[in-house]
Amino acid sequence: MSEAKKSVFIKTYGCQMNVYDSDRMADVLAREGFGRAETAEQADLILLNTCHIREKAAEKVYSEIGRLRRVKDQAAEEGRSVAIAVAGCVAQAEGEEIIARAPAVDAVIGPQSYHRLPHVLARAGREGHAVETEFPAEDKFDHMPAPGSARPSGQPSAFLTVQEGCDKFCTFCVVPYTRGAEASRPVSRILDEARHLVARGAREVMLLGQNVNAFHGAGPDGRDWSLAGLLFALAEIDGLERLRYTTSHPRDMRDDLIAAHRDLAQLMPYLHLPVQSGSDAILKAMNRRHGRDDYLRLVDRLRKVRPDLALSGDFIVGFPGETDADFEATMDLVETVGYAQAYSFKYSPRPGTPAADSDCQVDETLKSERLSRLQALLNSQQSAFNTAMRGRTIDVLLEKPGREPGQLTGRSPWLQAVQVDAPASAIGSIANVHIERIGANSLFGSLSGQGRGCAPGAAA
Ligand code: SAH
Ligand code: SF4
Ligand code: F3S
Repeated sequence: MSEAKKSVFIKTYGCQMNVYDSDRMADVLAREGFGRAETAEQADLILLNTCHIREKAAEKVYSEIGRLRRVKDQAAEEGRSVAIAVAGCVAQAEGEEIIARAPAVDAVIGPQSYHRLPHVLARAGREGHAVETEFPAEDKFDHMPAPGSARPSGQPSAFLTVQEGCDKFCTFCVVPYTRGAEASRPVSRILDEARHLVARGAREVMLLGQNVNAFHGAGPDGRDWSLAGLLFALAEIDGLERLRYTTSHPRDMRDDLIAAHRDLAQLMPYLHLPVQSGSDAILKAMNRRHGRDDYLRLVDRLRKVRPDLALSGDFIVGFPGETDADFEATMDLVETVGYAQAYSFKYSPRPGTPAADSDCQVDETLKSERLSRLQALLNSQQSAFNTAMRGRTIDVLLEKPGREPGQLTGRSPWLQAVQVDAPASAIGSIANVHIERIGANSLFGSLSGQGRGCAPGAAA
């Protein structure tokens, strides 16, 4: 490979969509001659792909920019010029303010403009600074190179954005403002991208969207397709053995999607289905547009069609006005549902969202107490779920080298990380793995007899 003239260091914060977007920006930049740098110190361009979801997430970005300013100054002393660009949801939310607060930043670019990254950088070069946070009319994906062009080879498990933005306006959340209105990509583009990923070695595709089950992309027949329709079409692709999707809203779990969990073998038995709170009063104040019982009924329906379905969720404690009784209702819901895995957060007031203006903010110490009680419960459920795997033989998609030599890291159908004693040639295969030991963050096992598949190109 010829050596790239310029290089970019990308640091990614936030959700899986940011991970996907960072790779797509790397693809755009590869077309402009940028290679990937391992560290900020080696790079000509430093790109921060940021998250605005909670205050801490946003503040991290500013402390990182402070550090990078010194990297930039040091490079200038050595006669090298380094540009700093801020992308992602902080870029969209704060725009010009970022440059006012951190003048070391050269360019600010919102998530809907990533196809315009080279123009924005060029403008920053000419004018000193450039900010682009419009929501352009054209579809950015139509103007970006095929995914993965910046990487020599693909990964066994790949992300694919199918839907972006959100129209739900939960009263705590910045996403409708940072990612814009809900928009679905056309089905044919998604199928093309999935085929391309499979040709590059993907065996599993995780469909991404802020509200992925509200997907309604234009189908080849001229009608809007639901997520279930899309999943069935993806399942037809040869070599695509596993499908997942995230993040779903309970309101958008349509009947055809529930049925897909029964009928589609490729759809993995694991669903991230955030509920945020178990209290009807809080759900209402959050504008979640469903009640506690709606959620519990939905979980029952899903488990009826797919008894081995594992659930994951998101929870917020200390939402404005949350009483002890509201919090106990959340604990009770968690006990009732039983989660395999979950994320939980203290409510963080976000500028511009309705809940931030409430006069009933919950005391920080109380939030912390509630969070630790909730997390203790969720952790015990997670470890019970993992412990139940001991002695079982399960399918594991072997994704990459493991922690120790002779080990590979893979994922179970339920998204658990599994360390497997297996040769590197097995990367990309789905193997039968006998689970022997349960660690804090992973399961440990060894290959059991014949795997279900072979890595493309590996000796049988
Ligand atoms: N689209 C997803 C959520 C995306 S944000 C959904 O509707 O469920 C990821 C998670 O961050 C949310 O589920 C929520 O639990 C948490 N979150 C969002 N805003 C927050 C805030 N202001 N404070 C604390 N947690 C928040
Ligand atoms: Fe945020 Fe609610 Fe939209 Fe999820 S559904 S992204 S929590 S506004
Ligand atoms: Fe964060 Fe934006 Fe994702 S706010 S969670 S990076 S959509």
